[in-house]
Amino acid sequence: SILIVDFGSQVTQLIARRVREAGVYSEIAPFNAAAEAFERMQPRGVILSGGPASVLDEGSPRIPQAILDAGLPMLGICYGQQALMAQLGGTVVKGDSGEFGSAFIEVADTCSLFDGLWAEGETHQVWMSHGDKVTALAPGFRVVAMSAGAPNAVIADDARRIYAMQFHPEVVHTPDGARLIANFARHVVGLAGDWTMAEFRATKIAEIREQVGTGRVICGLSGGVDSAVAAVLIHEAIGEQLTCVFVDHGLMRAGEADQVVSLFRGAYNIPLIHVDVSTLFLSGLAGITDPEEKRKFIGKTFIDVFEDEARKIGGAEFLAQGTLYPDVIESVSFTGGPSVTIKSHHNVGGLPERMDMKLVEPLRELFKDEVRELGRELGLPDIFVGRHPFPGPGLAIRIPGEVTRERCDILRKADAIYLEEIRSAGLYDAIWQAFAVLLPVRTVGVMGDGRTYDYVLALRAVTSTDGMTAQAFEFPGGFLPRVSTRIVNEVKGVNRVTYDYTSKPPGTIEWE
Ligand code: XMP
Repeated sequence: SILIVDFGSQVTQLIARRVREAGVYSEIAPFNAAAEAFERMQPRGVILSGGPASVLDEGSPRIPQAILDAGLPMLGICYGQQALMAQLGGTVVKGDSGEFGSAFIEVADTCSLFDGLWAEGETHQVWMSHGDKVTALAPGFRVVAMSAGAPNAVIADDARRIYAMQFHPEVVHTPDGARLIANFARHVVGLAGDWTMAEFRATKIAEIREQVGTGRVICGLSGGVDSAVAAVLIHEAIGEQLTCVFVDHGLMRAGEADQVVSLFRGAYNIPLIHVDVSTLFLSGLAGITDPEEKRKFIGKTFIDVFEDEARKIGGAEFLAQGTLYPDVIESVSFTGGPSVTIKSHHNVGGLPERMDMKLVEPLRELFKDEVRELGRELGLPDIFVGRHPFPGPGLAIRIPGEVTRERCDILRKADAIYLEEIRSAGLYDAIWQAFAVLLPVRTVGVMGDGRTYDYVLALRAVTSTDGMTAQAFEFPGGFLPRVSTRIVNEVKGVNRVTYDYTSKPPGTIEWE
């Protein structure tokens, strides 16, 4: 295995992801807990992350001495490089100007890290981000790649198998970065690269058992992939100590609530409390037209209902959540300066404090696609695992204006036709998210010999990698006309269909 020592970079988790992709098990430990992790894990190699500090500042983080003394292969990235130099006898000085963004490095010499990948004389694109500079190398090191701004872009000590770089190989803006990290893990450290999601599952199960002991856990299901995968994994670990609560607000897509119930009770035999509170939500939403007010009402009501159910179950000290790594970074990076609330996201974030519960979050290290892979590993059906993201407030934020039961029913029918056509055209997996929006606008149409005066429906489909930015999906010719015709013919209440071409930014994916 490989230990990743975290010096506080925003992208440390990406290093772990690249190591996992190379088929090698890794764990991240913050620099001040790295010595214990090292002792416990007995890793075969160590990666030192970047970080915001300067090694020249007093009290800045250091590599634990036990790790330096162990004689293992090491890879230092950015701050990790500077820490290595500072601690092994090199010199680091404050750079007069930082270097940030894309840069080109020239390979000056061969080294084991580059074997089969980069050759002398080649130029490669990398992503730089640093302020301090290494001016004198520690004994044993030599320069193997340089850039205009960083004469020591990559340095190597093949004898001790220590490599360090000024740039970030873990981000996608360094095109060969994943291969460099894989080369370190497999070629330099010599690990086989046969670690799999099956082993992640086994490791997490052991961790959950250790954390929970004989305690009881409750888990809120949203109908989405993340909470479902978390629940199935936790159930595998602790069986009947887990109770799932599905707060059904009546704002799900067609057939989804039933799917959740039958999957959990039927296929997995997981204790599930299905609370049907659609009337409570719909009556509370009556008269609300402001998007933020809708979101706040739904978020608060959800928590109230969940809390009630948890109280009825009684005695649970743990709350399970399907928190993913992007949620972790977002919440960390927003703690600093003021940020504008674009939308108040609905999740159960406020619950643990209010209910004084400890969290079980087995997916905290994973990205969405890895959660899907884990879901498949756990035997969740593809139709469930591959499902497009769906917002917590559900259809309520896809009905601008007032939400009524009638409008929800119309939207559900139209949305189901749209998704059915997308699936049968084989386009579902090429799209990040596709859905219909029911507009509170009526227009005039003609059907047969009669006049109609019905709602307008907007169709949206976007591609995206993480939901932070998005582009409208271009359907093949003939697709949208076919869907419009079907919707207008089959869904009573809709007589006009439009397609939304806005990208994000400046639009958002959802309409509210
Ligand atoms: P926006 O509309 O902000 O959406 O571009 C980005 C992604 O987040 C989803 N989304 C939500 N997910 N609770 C959620 O769990 C919410 O309140 C929420 N609002 C938006 C949206 O569907 C898209 O995938």
